[in-house]
Amino acid sequence: MDLTTQYLGMQLKNPFVPSASPLSRSIEDAKRLEDAGAAAIIMYSLFEEAVTAEEETMVRFLHHQDTGFAEAERFLPDHYDFSNGQERYLENLRDLKASLDIPVIASLNGTTPGGWISHAEEMERAGADALELNIYQVAADTDISGSEIEQRYIELLTQLKQQVSIPINMKLSPAFSSMANMVKRLELAGAAGVALFNRFYQPDINIDNLRLCACLHTSTSAEALLAMRWIAILHGRTSLSLGATGGVHTSEDAIKLLLAGADVVHLCSLLLEQGPSAMTTVLAGVEAWMEEKGFESIEDIRGRVSQIAVADPSEFERVNYVHILDSFSHNPGVRG
Ligand SMILES: Cc1cc2nc3c(=O)[nH]c(=O)nc-3n(C[C@H](O)[C@H](O)[C@H](O)COP(=O)(O)O)c2cc1C
Repeated sequence: MDLTTQYLGMQLKNPFVPSASPLSRSIEDAKRLEDAGAAAIIMYSLFEEAVTAEEETMVRFLHHQDTGFAEAERFLPDHYDFSNGQERYLENLRDLKASLDIPVIASLNGTTPGGWISHAEEMERAGADALELNIYQVAADTDISGSEIEQRYIELLTQLKQQVSIPINMKLSPAFSSMANMVKRLELAGAAGVALFNRFYQPDINIDNLRLCACLHTSTSAEALLAMRWIAILHGRTSLSLGATGGVHTSEDAIKLLLAGADVVHLCSLLLEQGPSAMTTVLAGVEAWMEEKGFESIEDIRGRVSQIAVADPSEFERVNYVHILDSFSHNPGVRG
């Protein structure tokens, strides 16, 4: 059975790629993912906030050295011992490259055009096979329009393209007014792929102490349908690699995304909850299904149920919504 797939200009042995998560912080976990069948790995992100904070600390430190502020110098680490987050990230990237045979995709996470993005160049030099850019922006400013936010995505991508020659994957939020147009603009600006979708972890309210809490609620399979629709709509309409992220917990979820047209399927919550071996179960389930249905390659199934392939393409748009609402029938016990 031929499970190979093309992704960001690379030939992968199968379409399963763990998305950015703490599992890539440990070489041991990353090795376990590779052994379980991962075809590539996306590293956890280097965050703009971390880079900026460390740069500010470094500037303050160097300023103290310049001005000979002796007392402060005693408390500050020696300049050459200053091992910051970026250096640790690059070290981790080099270690992953040395220990794994599969491609390693580095990840940057931020929102503003600026100096932090120049670290992409070091990531390329450290051996990253590709780069993912996650622009997690909550558009809460009433004075900033949607088109300004979209333009920022294009600017950040353009800046990144000036830094590196490796493929760039854009991890997108589902909150664009015109998703298909946004993807087309990113393609024109030189992206190699898109990951659909960045999961917006929501703040929660603790009703006992009336405070906000940052609680991690892992995803469920139902969430994968959002990416499934958009991948189905985009398949055959863009030359970008299409990665599906969010809500993949079973081989059935993965099969649906491949049928919709995904080039790769990303896993995160499942691997955090059940460990790297869950990858093997999903992979085996997809192979068993392919065998049962008589499919010999991923190429055979990719996009078979995409918008351009189905008898009624409007089922991926408003018609589907109307049909779903129409399909509801009351349980007699609920009335009255
Ligand atoms: C604990 C945790 C850490 C994550 N870290 C990152 C990260 O550093 N960068 C990133 O782009 N996404 C990160 N994500 C998002 C995942 O890569 C993924 O896109 C998201 O969780 C949806 O996939 P899932 O439903 O399979 O969990 C993280 C998710 C979790 C749960």
